Amino acid sequence: MHPSMAFSLITILSLISILCIPSSSSQDTLQLSLTPISNPHIAASQQSESQTNQHPWMQTVNYLASSSLARAHHLKNPKLNSSASTSAIPLFPVGYGGYSVSLSFGSPAQKLSFVMDTGSSLVWFPCTKRYQCYGCDFSTGNQTGISKFIPKLSSSVKILGCSNKKCGWVFGSTDPVQCNGKEICPAYILQYGSGSTSGLMLSETLKFPEGDVTDFVVGCSIISTRQPSGIAGFGRGPASLPVQMGLKKFSYCLVSHRFDDKPVSSDLLLVRSSSGSSTKDIGVSYTKFHKNPVTSRTSFADYYYLNLRKITVGGKPVKISYDFLVPGSDGNGGTIIDSGTTFTFMDDHVHNLVAKEFENQLSKYHRAVDVEKMSGLRPCFNLTGKSVELPELMFHFKGGAKLTLPMADYFSFLGDSGVLCMTIVSSNRVGSGPKTGPSIIIGNYQQQNIYLEYDLEKERLGFKKQICK
Ligand SMILES: *[C@@H]1O[C@H](CO)[C@@H](O)[C@H](O)[C@H]1NC(C)=O
Ligand SMILES: *[C@@H]1O[C@H](CO)[C@@H](O)[C@H](O)[C@H]1NC(C)=O
Ligand SMILES: *[C@@H]1O[C@H](CO)[C@@H](O)[C@H](O)[C@H]1NC(C)=O
Repeated sequence: MHPSMAFSLITILSLISILCIPSSSSQDTLQLSLTPISNPHIAASQQSESQTNQHPWMQTVNYLASSSLARAHHLKNPKLNSSASTSAIPLFPVGYGGYSVSLSFGSPAQKLSFVMDTGSSLVWFPCTKRYQCYGCDFSTGNQTGISKFIPKLSSSVKILGCSNKKCGWVFGSTDPVQCNGKEICPAYILQYGSGSTSGLMLSETLKFPEGDVTDFVVGCSIISTRQPSGIAGFGRGPASLPVQMGLKKFSYCLVSHRFDDKPVSSDLLLVRSSSGSSTKDIGVSYTKFHKNPVTSRTSFADYYYLNLRKITVGGKPVKISYDFLVPGSDGNGGTIIDSGTTFTFMDDHVHNLVAKEFENQLSKYHRAVDVEKMSGLRPCFNLTGKSVELPELMFHFKGGAKLTLPMADYFSFLGDSGVLCMTIVSSNRVGSGPKTGPSIIIGNYQQQNIYLEYDLEKERLGFKKQICK
């Protein structure tokens, strides 16, 4: 999903009044947390010092600082110990095309499910009894079935103050938010690929059996459109779950979508210390993340860009120009990996080349053009009564790592029609207009049965084909 942000269309006041209804009884449970803004000059000078740590005394200071931090961390999280530095949360495939995780917030804990989304950064939940969601009657449930966080039932909830520097996170600006005398952080509005959400930022405790994360910034959404549940942002922005928790890495292996809405899951691993986890790194290939040169567009800074160099179909290179594979100086183009997108998206230029190559290599099969028109997928082949051998689809990354997708990740039979279609979509635009945003978005359908490790410490993605269940 690609969110973009805008300041309040809905006035903050109307949201507050919704939050506080019924006002008198809930008033005292929503405290204002007003933290002074940290001095940016102090922060900057600390940063530059830590970068010039050639002096022996500086190393000592660094050592002391890090051991103090480790000690403080230990004291603040008494339940955390080295054997419990990894949390495992079940990840379920769901009918609306995503994967969901349950997280517990508040005291006492309220457990809610979230779409796990590596393409955005805010974590938010449907919030208060008054939560309204338009166009949310998905196959898996109805609006009244959406579970909501009830702030007034938690003793640890606070509304994020406007002068708190975390308030700026969701607005993607490094400058302090203009508060103009307002005490609380302004309402956020996030637009996703489809749908939107809006609400107020809270500071709340995020609970794990291995230890609590206090002062976690989370969105309390009051109004949404087309959202099946809350979203747990696993992107690269400061508000994302991995960044707020200071994770060293996280990893998952998505089970097949044929288990959608069934009690079948695999573990999402959250690794808090580099030594703590038993990484399954035997046979794992790695490729470095790529930084988009443009950071002023918030969403570009949220994405995990990959250094894709080449795509081959049946061993034959598809001639894709470089600026589609890696973002250009204007920030557009490039390849990202996104668990919140269902089918991989390719810009028309890329999609046409890939589809043509499959069409050439599968030319002895009968194209199902009618089905292509109806489904929007291409190419499709009528294989009724035939068996087929499909060419391999392989992504080649800088440094030599190669990802061969499992066949079921890029070709699927549509129901029992005997028609097989490539499950990669394009915008189907006529001609080639200017490209905006990533040109290739590797969606969760193309991640099924692949172990994926987001190594945040070493800035790289690890992958290995395996059966996730
Ligand atoms: C450390 O973590 C393990 C695994 O969760 C747990 O069984 C053990 O009781 C913990 N030890 C302490 C001292 O909390
Ligand atoms: C909606 O979901 C709720 C809770 O799961 C259920 O009680 C209710 O019957 C459902 N309503 C409809 C119209 O399906
Ligand atoms: C596929 O081919 C079979 C036999 O050739 C035919 O009966 C069937 O209608 C075709 N299906 C579609 C969807 O075109």
